[in-house]
Amino acid sequence: MIYLKTEEEIDFLRESNQIVAKALAEVAKFIQPGVTTKYLDQIGEDFIRSCGAVPSFLHYNGYPASLCISVNEVVVHGIPSVQQVLHEGDIVSVDCGAYKNGYHGDSAYTFCVGEVREELRNLMKTTKEALYLGIEQAVDGSRLGNIGYAVQQHCQTRGYTVVREMVGHGIGRNLHEEPEVSNVGKRGAGPLLKTGMVIAIEPMINMGKRNIVIENDGWTVRTSDRKPSAHFEHTVAIRKGKAEILSSFDYIKEVIGDRFI
Ligand code: MF3
Ligand code: CO
Repeated sequence: MIYLKTEEEIDFLRESNQIVAKALAEVAKFIQPGVTTKYLDQIGEDFIRSCGAVPSFLHYNGYPASLCISVNEVVVHGIPSVQQVLHEGDIVSVDCGAYKNGYHGDSAYTFCVGEVREELRNLMKTTKEALYLGIEQAVDGSRLGNIGYAVQQHCQTRGYTVVREMVGHGIGRNLHEEPEVSNVGKRGAGPLLKTGMVIAIEPMINMGKRNIVIENDGWTVRTSDRKPSAHFEHTVAIRKGKAEILSSFDYIKEVIGDRFI
């Protein structure tokens, strides 16, 4: 069952997502060679709590951290660690959730660590473009399959592959609600999208094969061929004509300046 949110509920969802957006920008200030992913997790958690919110991911199904930090061949759900140091040339997806007033926010951005080779920057750019093309389809009267179709078309025509096993999701009082938002799809297929639906769209796009494996920690999702993967996520409210993006990359842009792709 897909819950339709009232305008009051969407106000709360916007507030939680704006906290997530600002937390990602705060973390971005510290992304550089030599920093550990555990340190970034602490920055994120402290920021979320300073806003009177709670990290959505911490203890979710036993997840042990506040952020998911996924480096290079890690697709999503990388667990922050004191052992993991970022290096020049890495790409790092930071996924953040915040819970306040009974509603969750959820957004992710893939950052460059120092100078990153063009091939990787192109992967990131295509993934982010695919997210916005998906969002263009997230309007009242459209079908869920149109989102996946737009994402898949954009990425596959550029020679990349789309992860199938992990998907976006409805979001509200729960971090994960119906529907599942696949990053592949058929035009005109799937449930009708209606004003008041709120969904997180999160393409995970690989440079090599689409296949993934889950590491022994039970969380870390990486590409089977160990080639890099990029991930961007926004939470959006379905509306007539144009979706409202409840999260934002604007604060990140202020921090990373001309390194914003
Ligand atoms: N954005 C991710 C998702 O929606 C983050 C969830 S991580 C978890 O799946 F730890 F909370 F599961
Ligand atoms: Co999500």
